[in-house]
Amino acid sequence: MTGEALQLALDRNATMTEHFLHGVYAEDPDLKVLLDAEQYSLFAGGKRIRPTLVLEFCRLFGGRDEAALPFAAAVEMIHTYSLIHDDLPCMDNDDLRRGKPTNHKVFGEAIALLAGDALLTGAFEVASTNTAVTPEIAAMATAYLAANAGRYGMIGGQVMDIAGEHRKLSAEELLKLHSLKTGALINASCVLGALAAGISPGDSAMEKVVLYAEKIGLAFQIVDDLLDQTGDEKLLGKKTGADKEHEKNTFLSFYTIEEAQFYADRLTAEAIDAIRSFEESETLVSLAKWLATRKK
Ligand code: IPE
Ligand code: IPE
Ligand code: MG
Ligand code: MG
Ligand code: MG
Repeated sequence: MTGEALQLALDRNATMTEHFLHGVYAEDPDLKVLLDAEQYSLFAGGKRIRPTLVLEFCRLFGGRDEAALPFAAAVEMIHTYSLIHDDLPCMDNDDLRRGKPTNHKVFGEAIALLAGDALLTGAFEVASTNTAVTPEIAAMATAYLAANAGRYGMIGGQVMDIAGEHRKLSAEELLKLHSLKTGALINASCVLGALAAGISPGDSAMEKVVLYAEKIGLAFQIVDDLLDQTGDEKLLGKKTGADKEHEKNTFLSFYTIEEAQFYADRLTAEAIDAIRSFEESETLVSLAKWLATRKK
Protein backbone atom coordinates (compact mmCIF):
# COMPACT_ATOMS: atom_id res chain seq x y z
CA MET A 1 0.00 0.00 0.00
CA THR A 2 1.35 3.46 -0.88
CA GLY A 3 1.76 6.20 1.69
CA GLU A 4 -1.06 8.09 0.04
CA ALA A 5 -3.44 5.15 0.23
CA LEU A 6 -2.64 4.71 3.92
CA GLN A 7 -3.22 8.42 4.53
CA LEU A 8 -6.60 8.13 2.81
CA ALA A 9 -7.55 5.19 5.02
CA LEU A 10 -6.43 7.06 8.15
CA ASP A 11 -8.41 10.16 7.14
CA ARG A 12 -11.51 8.13 6.43
CA ASN A 13 -11.28 6.32 9.76
CA ALA A 14 -10.74 9.60 11.60
CA THR A 15 -13.74 11.20 9.91
CA MET A 16 -16.00 8.26 10.73
CA THR A 17 -14.89 8.26 14.36
CA GLU A 18 -15.31 12.01 14.71
CA HIS A 19 -18.79 11.83 13.22
CA PHE A 20 -19.73 9.20 15.79
CA LEU A 21 -18.15 11.22 18.62
CA HIS A 22 -20.15 14.32 17.70
CA GLY A 23 -23.28 12.21 18.20
CA VAL A 24 -22.30 11.52 21.81
CA TYR A 25 -22.91 15.16 22.72
CA ALA A 26 -26.24 16.92 23.26
CA GLU A 27 -26.39 20.58 24.23
CA ASP A 28 -27.09 21.55 27.83
CA PRO A 29 -26.60 25.24 28.63
CA ASP A 30 -25.94 24.49 32.31
CA LEU A 31 -23.07 22.17 31.39
CA LYS A 32 -21.65 24.30 28.62
CA VAL A 33 -18.19 24.69 30.15
CA LEU A 34 -17.82 20.93 30.65
CA LEU A 35 -19.04 20.05 27.17
CA ASP A 36 -16.82 22.75 25.65
CA ALA A 37 -13.79 21.50 27.57
CA GLU A 38 -14.33 17.88 26.54
CA GLN A 39 -14.84 18.75 22.90
CA TYR A 40 -11.96 21.22 22.88
CA SER A 41 -9.51 18.35 23.41
CA LEU A 42 -11.49 15.64 21.64
CA PHE A 43 -11.71 17.57 18.36
CA ALA A 44 -8.26 19.17 18.50
CA GLY A 45 -6.96 16.92 15.72
CA GLY A 46 -5.23 13.85 17.15
CA LYS A 47 -3.90 11.19 14.78
CA ARG A 48 -6.76 8.81 15.73
CA ILE A 49 -4.40 5.82 15.65
CA ARG A 50 -6.38 3.87 18.26
CA PRO A 51 -9.77 4.20 16.51
CA THR A 52 -8.05 3.23 13.27
CA LEU A 53 -6.77 0.05 14.93
CA VAL A 54 -10.28 -0.80 16.14
CA LEU A 55 -11.79 -0.27 12.69
CA GLU A 56 -9.02 -2.01 10.76
CA PHE A 57 -8.95 -5.12 12.98
CA CYS A 58 -12.71 -5.39 12.69
CA ARG A 59 -12.43 -5.17 8.88
CA LEU A 60 -9.52 -7.64 8.85
CA PHE A 61 -11.90 -10.28 10.18
CA GLY A 62 -14.81 -9.28 7.96
CA GLY A 63 -16.70 -7.31 10.61
CA ARG A 64 -18.91 -4.30 9.94
CA ASP A 65 -17.81 -0.72 10.66
CA GLU A 66 -21.04 -0.14 12.60
CA ALA A 67 -19.97 -2.81 15.09
CA ALA A 68 -16.53 -1.26 15.57
CA LEU A 69 -17.39 2.45 15.67
CA PRO A 70 -18.68 2.70 19.27
CA PHE A 71 -15.53 0.90 20.45
CA ALA A 72 -13.37 3.18 18.29
CA ALA A 73 -15.03 6.24 19.83
CA ALA A 74 -14.66 4.83 23.35
CA VAL A 75 -10.90 4.24 23.04
CA GLU A 76 -10.38 7.73 21.64
CA MET A 77 -12.37 9.21 24.54
CA ILE A 78 -10.18 7.36 27.03
CA HIS A 79 -7.02 8.34 25.17
CA THR A 80 -8.09 12.02 25.12
CA TYR A 81 -8.91 11.97 28.83
CA SER A 82 -5.48 10.46 29.51
CA LEU A 83 -3.79 13.30 27.61
CA ILE A 84 -5.77 15.99 29.48
CA HIS A 85 -4.75 14.51 32.82
CA ASP A 86 -1.18 13.76 31.65
CA ASP A 87 -0.69 17.46 30.86
CA LEU A 88 -1.92 18.75 34.24
CA PRO A 89 0.59 20.66 36.41
CA CYS A 90 0.62 17.79 38.93
CA MET A 91 1.59 15.36 36.15
CA ASP A 92 3.77 16.42 33.17
CA ASN A 93 2.82 20.11 33.40
CA ASP A 94 2.59 20.74 29.65
CA ASP A 95 1.21 23.85 27.95
CA LEU A 96 0.80 22.57 24.40
CA ARG A 97 -1.17 19.57 23.10
CA ARG A 98 -2.40 18.74 19.63
CA GLY A 99 -1.11 22.13 18.53
CA LYS A 100 -3.24 24.05 21.01
CA PRO A 101 -2.92 25.28 24.61
CA THR A 102 -3.56 22.36 26.98
CA ASN A 103 -7.03 21.90 28.44
CA HIS A 104 -6.20 23.28 31.88
CA LYS A 105 -4.58 26.38 30.31
CA VAL A 106 -7.92 27.23 28.71
CA PHE A 107 -10.49 25.91 31.18
CA GLY A 108 -8.58 25.79 34.47
CA GLU A 109 -7.45 22.74 36.39
CA ALA A 110 -10.78 21.85 37.99
CA ILE A 111 -12.68 21.76 34.71
CA ALA A 112 -9.81 19.95 32.95
CA LEU A 113 -9.89 17.28 35.65
CA LEU A 114 -13.66 16.94 35.35
CA ALA A 115 -13.61 16.95 31.53
CA GLY A 116 -11.20 14.02 31.76
CA ASP A 117 -13.48 12.26 34.24
CA ALA A 118 -16.49 12.76 31.97
CA LEU A 119 -14.62 11.43 28.93
CA LEU A 120 -13.51 8.35 30.86
CA THR A 121 -16.91 7.46 32.27
CA GLY A 122 -18.60 8.40 29.00
CA ALA A 123 -16.36 5.96 27.16
CA PHE A 124 -17.74 3.04 29.16
CA GLU A 125 -21.28 4.18 28.48
CA VAL A 126 -20.56 4.31 24.74
CA ALA A 127 -18.77 0.93 24.64
CA SER A 128 -21.27 -0.94 26.79
CA THR A 129 -24.28 0.32 24.79
CA ASN A 130 -22.90 -0.82 21.43
CA THR A 131 -26.07 -2.32 19.96
CA ALA A 132 -24.40 -3.38 16.71
CA VAL A 133 -22.83 -6.33 18.56
CA THR A 134 -24.38 -8.90 20.90
CA PRO A 135 -24.77 -7.89 24.58
CA GLU A 136 -22.15 -10.54 25.42
CA ILE A 137 -19.59 -8.98 23.09
CA ALA A 138 -20.39 -5.46 24.35
CA ALA A 139 -19.88 -6.58 27.94
CA MET A 140 -16.67 -8.45 27.16
CA ALA A 141 -15.23 -5.52 25.20
CA THR A 142 -16.13 -3.00 27.90
CA ALA A 143 -14.52 -5.13 30.60
CA TYR A 144 -11.37 -5.56 28.51
CA LEU A 145 -11.21 -1.82 27.88
CA ALA A 146 -11.68 -1.06 31.59
CA ALA A 147 -8.96 -3.51 32.58
CA ASN A 148 -6.49 -2.09 30.07
CA ALA A 149 -7.23 1.52 31.00
CA GLY A 150 -7.03 0.83 34.73
CA ARG A 151 -4.64 -0.05 37.51
CA TYR A 152 -2.97 -3.02 35.83
CA GLY A 153 -3.01 -1.10 32.54
CA MET A 154 -2.60 2.55 31.57
CA ILE A 155 -3.01 4.01 35.06
CA GLY A 156 -0.46 1.60 36.45
CA GLY A 157 1.95 2.75 33.74
CA GLN A 158 1.31 6.41 34.48
CA VAL A 159 2.05 5.73 38.15
CA MET A 160 5.35 4.00 37.26
CA ASP A 161 6.18 6.98 35.03
CA ILE A 162 5.52 9.58 37.73
CA ALA A 163 7.05 7.54 40.56
CA GLY A 164 10.13 6.95 38.40
CA GLU A 165 10.92 10.64 37.87
CA HIS A 166 14.38 11.55 39.18
CA ARG A 167 15.14 7.84 39.74
CA LYS A 168 16.73 5.46 37.28
CA LEU A 169 14.56 2.45 36.51
CA SER A 170 15.91 -0.90 35.37
CA ALA A 171 15.43 -1.92 31.75
CA GLU A 172 12.75 -4.41 32.86
CA GLU A 173 10.88 -1.71 34.76
CA LEU A 174 11.04 0.63 31.77
CA LEU A 175 9.64 -2.06 29.47
CA LYS A 176 6.78 -2.67 31.88
CA LEU A 177 6.13 1.07 32.30
CA HIS A 178 5.92 1.57 28.53
CA SER A 179 3.82 -1.46 27.82
CA LEU A 180 1.35 -0.35 30.50
CA LYS A 181 1.11 3.40 29.96
CA THR A 182 0.89 3.23 26.16
CA GLY A 183 0.76 -0.42 25.15
CA ALA A 184 -2.32 -1.34 27.16
CA LEU A 185 -4.72 1.01 25.36
CA ILE A 186 -3.25 0.10 21.96
CA ASN A 187 -3.72 -3.55 22.89
CA ALA A 188 -7.36 -2.85 23.84
CA SER A 189 -7.92 -1.04 20.53
CA CYS A 190 -6.77 -4.02 18.46
CA VAL A 191 -8.62 -6.58 20.59
CA LEU A 192 -11.88 -4.60 20.60
CA GLY A 193 -11.76 -4.46 16.81
CA ALA A 194 -11.39 -8.24 16.63
CA LEU A 195 -14.15 -8.73 19.23
CA ALA A 196 -16.46 -6.50 17.17
CA ALA A 197 -15.91 -8.86 14.24
CA GLY A 198 -16.86 -11.87 16.37
CA ILE A 199 -13.39 -13.25 17.09
CA SER A 200 -13.41 -14.98 20.50
CA PRO A 201 -10.76 -14.41 23.17
CA GLY A 202 -9.63 -18.04 22.89
CA ASP A 203 -9.25 -18.00 19.09
CA SER A 204 -5.75 -18.48 17.71
CA ALA A 205 -6.40 -15.38 15.57
CA MET A 206 -6.74 -13.37 18.79
CA GLU A 207 -3.23 -14.40 19.84
CA LYS A 208 -1.90 -12.87 16.65
CA VAL A 209 -3.91 -9.69 17.24
CA VAL A 210 -2.40 -9.37 20.72
CA LEU A 211 1.11 -10.06 19.43
CA TYR A 212 0.81 -7.32 16.80
CA ALA A 213 -0.64 -4.97 19.40
CA GLU A 214 2.13 -5.57 21.94
CA LYS A 215 4.87 -5.02 19.39
CA ILE A 216 3.46 -1.83 17.86
CA GLY A 217 2.47 -0.56 21.31
CA LEU A 218 6.06 -0.68 22.51
CA ALA A 219 7.38 0.67 19.22
CA PHE A 220 4.88 3.53 19.47
CA GLN A 221 6.25 4.69 22.82
CA ILE A 222 9.88 4.27 21.68
CA VAL A 223 9.10 6.62 18.79
CA ASP A 224 7.27 8.99 21.15
CA ASP A 225 10.43 9.10 23.28
CA LEU A 226 12.58 9.63 20.17
CA LEU A 227 10.37 12.45 18.92
CA ASP A 228 10.57 14.18 22.29
CA GLN A 229 14.29 14.52 21.61
CA THR A 230 14.50 14.77 17.83
CA GLY A 231 11.04 15.90 16.72
CA ASP A 232 9.67 19.19 15.43
CA GLU A 233 7.32 20.92 17.89
CA LYS A 234 5.20 22.35 15.06
CA LEU A 235 4.59 18.93 13.50
CA LEU A 236 4.12 17.18 16.83
CA GLY A 237 1.82 19.81 18.31
CA LYS A 238 3.47 19.33 21.70
CA LYS A 239 6.60 20.60 23.39
CA THR A 240 9.84 18.68 22.82
CA GLY A 241 12.58 18.18 25.39
CA ALA A 242 10.02 17.70 28.16
CA ASP A 243 11.23 14.21 29.13
CA LYS A 244 14.75 15.38 29.96
CA GLU A 245 13.38 18.36 31.84
CA HIS A 246 11.31 16.05 34.04
CA GLU A 247 14.09 13.45 34.30
CA LYS A 248 11.76 10.84 32.85
CA ASN A 249 12.86 7.29 32.21
CA THR A 250 12.64 6.83 28.45
CA PHE A 251 14.21 4.54 25.88
CA LEU A 252 16.86 7.17 25.41
CA SER A 253 17.98 6.67 29.02
CA PHE A 254 19.15 3.24 27.84
CA TYR A 255 19.85 3.50 24.13
CA THR A 256 21.29 5.91 21.62
CA ILE A 257 18.91 7.41 19.06
CA GLU A 258 20.11 4.91 16.45
CA GLU A 259 19.72 1.92 18.78
CA ALA A 260 16.23 3.02 19.83
CA GLN A 261 15.14 3.39 16.20
CA PHE A 262 16.64 -0.02 15.42
CA TYR A 263 14.66 -1.51 18.33
CA ALA A 264 11.42 0.12 17.09
CA ASP A 265 12.06 -1.17 13.57
CA ARG A 266 12.66 -4.70 14.85
CA LEU A 267 9.42 -4.64 16.87
CA THR A 268 7.61 -3.37 13.79
CA ALA A 269 8.92 -6.25 11.67
CA GLU A 270 7.78 -8.72 14.35
CA ALA A 271 4.34 -7.09 14.48
CA ILE A 272 3.99 -7.42 10.73
CA ASP A 273 5.04 -11.07 10.86
CA ALA A 274 2.26 -11.77 13.34
CA ILE A 275 -0.54 -10.67 10.98
CA ARG A 276 0.95 -11.06 7.52
CA SER A 277 -0.77 -14.37 6.89
CA PHE A 278 -4.24 -12.81 7.09
CA GLU A 279 -5.71 -11.79 3.77
CA GLU A 280 -6.38 -8.04 3.63
CA SER A 281 -3.68 -7.26 6.19
CA GLU A 282 -2.20 -4.63 3.90
CA THR A 283 -3.46 -1.56 5.78
CA LEU A 284 -2.28 -2.85 9.16
CA VAL A 285 1.12 -3.71 7.66
CA SER A 286 1.48 -0.20 6.22
CA LEU A 287 0.22 1.37 9.42
CA ALA A 288 2.86 -0.42 11.51
CA LYS A 289 5.61 0.74 9.13
CA TRP A 290 4.36 4.32 9.17
CA LEU A 291 4.15 4.40 12.97
CA ALA A 292 7.83 3.44 13.26
CA THR A 293 8.95 6.33 11.06
CA ARG A 294 6.30 8.92 11.88
CA LYS A 295 7.29 12.53 12.48
CA LYS A 296 4.11 13.45 14.38
C1 IPE B 1 0.46 10.51 22.67
O1 IPE B 1 -0.37 9.72 21.86
C2 IPE B 1 0.59 9.93 24.01
C3 IPE B 1 1.17 8.60 24.06
C4 IPE B 1 0.53 7.59 24.50
C5 IPE B 1 2.54 8.39 23.62
P1 IPE B 1 -0.58 10.05 20.31
O2 IPE B 1 0.74 10.29 19.68
O3 IPE B 1 -1.45 9.00 19.71
O4 IPE B 1 -1.37 11.44 20.38
P2 IPE B 1 -2.50 12.06 19.44
O5 IPE B 1 -3.76 11.32 19.73
O6 IPE B 1 -2.08 11.90 18.01
O7 IPE B 1 -2.59 13.49 19.87
C1 IPE C 1 1.63 9.56 28.06
O1 IPE C 1 2.98 9.41 27.87
C2 IPE C 1 0.92 8.31 28.06
C3 IPE C 1 -0.48 8.50 28.48
C4 IPE C 1 -1.11 7.55 29.04
C5 IPE C 1 -1.15 9.78 28.27
P1 IPE C 1 3.78 10.76 27.64
O2 IPE C 1 3.67 11.66 28.82
O3 IPE C 1 5.13 10.44 27.11
O4 IPE C 1 2.92 11.40 26.44
P2 IPE C 1 3.20 12.81 25.80
O5 IPE C 1 4.63 12.78 25.30
O6 IPE C 1 2.98 13.85 26.86
O7 IPE C 1 2.22 12.88 24.65
MG1 MG D 1 3.39 11.47 30.87
MG1 MG E 1 3.27 13.80 28.85
MG1 MG F 1 6.14 11.48 25.54
